[in-house]
Amino acid sequence: MRTIAILTSGGDAPGMNAAIRAVVRAASYYDMKVYGIKNGYSGLTEGNLELMGVSSVADIIQRGGTILGTARSKEFLTEEGQQRALNVLDIYGIEGLIVLGGDGTFRGAKALSEKGFPVIGIPCTIDNDLGYSEYTIGFFTAVETAVDAIGKIRDTSSSHGRASVIEVMGRHCGDIALYSGLAGGAESIILPEIYTDMDQVLQKVLQGRNRGKRQNLIIMAEGTGDPYEVAETIRMKTNIETRVTILGHIQRGGTPIAIDRIIASEMGIVAVEKLRDRDINILLGIRNNNIYTIPIDKGLLCGKSIKKGLYNTVGILSI
Ligand code: F6P
Repeated sequence: MRTIAILTSGGDAPGMNAAIRAVVRAASYYDMKVYGIKNGYSGLTEGNLELMGVSSVADIIQRGGTILGTARSKEFLTEEGQQRALNVLDIYGIEGLIVLGGDGTFRGAKALSEKGFPVIGIPCTIDNDLGYSEYTIGFFTAVETAVDAIGKIRDTSSSHGRASVIEVMGRHCGDIALYSGLAGGAESIILPEIYTDMDQVLQKVLQGRNRGKRQNLIIMAEGTGDPYEVAETIRMKTNIETRVTILGHIQRGGTPIAIDRIIASEMGIVAVEKLRDRDINILLGIRNNNIYTIPIDKGLLCGKSIKKGLYNTVGILSI
């Protein structure tokens, strides 16, 4: 393959830029031309792309977000949108495409591959919700950001003797809540994957107070309920003042931590090498701490499960 392209799609994730850099540099190393497509699949259908070179990815390994821009494209879900994308790829003589994103992005990649166009996916999402990969690029940075915020909330909560309900992101996956809650020393963690009895949360709050704890941290994954309702229930039933913090998009930005840059750099190179060798229509993932590949359709079918062992540690440590 002599000419390839790269796009980022869906929610941005810290480390995407490190992966873009690796793809562009590896392509140059192997004497391939690489186009950067702007704003995900929308840019692809519109022909919004430009040739990239070694210096167009200088000084980005440390930057959050994506220099290519991203979008959640509705048009690409249609037959017509996909055909438009194939036309653009054809016009520019692009022979293979590397896509960075999560499951929505990979569904788009699957559609292109089924139409005979070679694609490779690199897992980039803060949610860590892809069943086929132990970790996704951006997840550890998001957890780090959440842990930092939880630490700051802990300071003020314990100063005032309050409880704090903190909502973190994750869409349908509780990993950010679980990992940041464990690392942040939370008393309770509410996940979409495991039923939480509100009385247990209240018992933890009361136990903590009776043991002289000055703070009580309850980490909720988004979509598991209304954090303001949880806070009001705590206040009403325990008479403990409670505050709510919704971390929101803060978790998506910021400089990627080392592990995300390292995985992104390695995967960027592997993706280019796989395209070069025509080992195509695959997703890159992490299994047993190593990069491995899986066909796109199989990867998309893998269910994601929460690490119950980690969840139980929170119960043991928060007595
Ligand atoms: O998929 C990443 C993510 O940040 C989810 O955690 C969250 O539910 C969603 O994206 C938010 O999407 P948007 O940026 O479109 O509001």
